[in-house]
Amino acid sequence: MSESVDHTQEHATLTLPSGQVVELPVVEGTEKERAVDIAGLRQKTGYITLDDGYTNTGSCESKITFIDGEKGILRYRGYPIQEIAKRCSFIETAQLVIWGELPTPEERSYFSDILTENSALPEDFRRHFAGFPVHAHPMSILSAMINALQSYDLPNMIIDSDEEFQRVAATLISKVRTIAAAAYKSSIGEPIMYPRYDLRYVENFLHMMFSRPYRDYVPSAEATAALNLFLLLHADHEQNCSTSTVRMVASGQANLYASVAAGVCALWGPLHGGANQAVMEMLTLIRDSGMTAQDYLARVKDRSTGIRLMGFGHRVYRSFDPRALLLKDACDKLLNSMNIVDPRLDIARELEEVALADDYFASRKLYPNVDFYSGIILTALGIPTEMFTVVFAIGRMPGWIAHWKEIHDNPASRIYRPRQIYVGSPEREWVNRFQRDKGNTTQGFIIPEELRAKLSS
Ligand SMILES: CC(C)(COP(=O)(O)OP(=O)(O)OC[C@H]1O[C@@H](n2cnc3c(N)ncnc32)[C@H](O)[C@@H]1OP(=O)(O)O)[C@@H](O)C(=O)NCCC(=O)NCCS
Repeated sequence: MSESVDHTQEHATLTLPSGQVVELPVVEGTEKERAVDIAGLRQKTGYITLDDGYTNTGSCESKITFIDGEKGILRYRGYPIQEIAKRCSFIETAQLVIWGELPTPEERSYFSDILTENSALPEDFRRHFAGFPVHAHPMSILSAMINALQSYDLPNMIIDSDEEFQRVAATLISKVRTIAAAAYKSSIGEPIMYPRYDLRYVENFLHMMFSRPYRDYVPSAEATAALNLFLLLHADHEQNCSTSTVRMVASGQANLYASVAAGVCALWGPLHGGANQAVMEMLTLIRDSGMTAQDYLARVKDRSTGIRLMGFGHRVYRSFDPRALLLKDACDKLLNSMNIVDPRLDIARELEEVALADDYFASRKLYPNVDFYSGIILTALGIPTEMFTVVFAIGRMPGWIAHWKEIHDNPASRIYRPRQIYVGSPEREWVNRFQRDKGNTTQGFIIPEELRAKLSS
C-alpha cells in the first residue's frame, strides 16, 4: 500500500461470485479525488481488475499536475494555468514543474545560464543529422537524437546527485530545441544554425529555425509571446499517453534520455501529440475542397467514414480544455498583430460553433482541446506542419523530466508491470511443420501468389 496518499478510514466492499467479501481501502488525494486501493486484491482473491485503455485506473500518485476534467481545471504544482500563462516564461514554468516551486530571481537566472551553456550540440554529434534521408520525419530524428545524446552527455547513465540531475535536465531542455531546429534545417537542406548566447530560450529557437548564415531572423514580440504560451501550456498534463510511457520506461530504471526519447515516440501518434498536425490537415482539406463546416461534420457523424473531428474530445476534459481557450485568444491576437488572414481560422471557428450546438458532440461532451487552435498559431509563426509535434515535444520536455524525477527520487518505486486477461488459444498440441494445414495459415500473413508454388516446392 502506498505511503504518501491519504488513507481514509473508509473501505469499499467487493463481493465476488464465490461469495467472498473483500474490504478495500479508500484513499483520497489533495483535491478530494477518491480511489479504491486494489493493490492487495489479487493476493487476497486471485482476481485482477480489467480496465482497457486505463479509463478508470490511477497508475501512480503524483504531485506535479492537477486536472479536474469536469470543471475544466488545470494546475501545475497548485498554480492555475491561467495565472501561469499570464505571468510566466516557459523556462520559469519548467522550473516550477520539475522542482515544485516558482524559482527565485537567482534560481531563474542561474538556470538560464546553464541552459545557455548547454545549448550547443557537440560538433561530432552534428554529423548524425546527415545520416537521415532528407525527407525523414523530424519526430523520428528527434527521438533518435535524444537517445544518441545520452552517449555524449551521460555516458555512465547514472544521475547520482541533485547537481547532476540539474545539469542533465538543463541539457535536455536546451538541446531538444537545438536538435529540433537542426532536424528542420536538415529536412529542408539548409545549414544547421548554431544557438546564440545573447538570445533567450524562445527567440533562440526561432533564430535556429529561421535564420540563415547570411541573414538573421528577428521574431516580433507577439510571435515570441505566442510561442512562449504554446510551450508553457504543453509543459505537463499528468498521466497522458507519452508521460505514462516515460514513467513506464523510467520505472525499469532506464536513464532519463532513453525515457524521454520513448516519450517522443509515444507523442507522435495522431490521437495524441500528432493531433495538431491532423487538425491543420483537416482545416486545409475543408478549405481546399470548398466543403462547409456542416458538410464536414456530417461526415464525422456518419460513423462508417471513421472520420473524427480532430482537435475535439479529450479523455479527461468533459468540458472546455482551459488551454484551448487561452490558445484561441492568443491565435486571434497573433494573426491580428501580423496582419495575417488565414481562412482556416474562420473554418475552425465555424466548426467549433456548429459542433458545440450539435447534439452528437454535446451528448458525448466533446469540446475543443489544446490542438484545435495551436496549429494555426504555429503556421502563423512559419513552422511547417510536420514540425508541430516536435514543437509540442519541446514544450512537454519539463513534464517528462519531472515525472522521471518523481520515479527516480522515490525509494519505494516499483517497475510498472500491468497484468492482462488472456483471450488467446488454450493450450494445444504441437503440429509438425509438414502437417500444417494450408487453410489454417497465420492470419494476416500474406505470401504473394506468384511465390507460393516456388516456396512449397
Ligand atoms: C482524444 C481522444 C483520443 C479521446 O478518446 P477516448 O477518451 O478514448 O474517447 P472515445 O474514443 O471513447 O470517444 C467517446 C465517444 O466520442 C466519440 N468521439 C470522441 N472524439 C471524437 C471526435 N474527435 N470526433 C468525433 N467523435 C468523437 C467516439 O466516437 C465515441 O463515440 P461512441 O461512444 O458513440 O462510440 C478522442 O476524443 C479523439 O480521437 N479526438 C480527436 C483527436 C485529438 O484531437 N487528439 C488530441 C487529444 S489532446
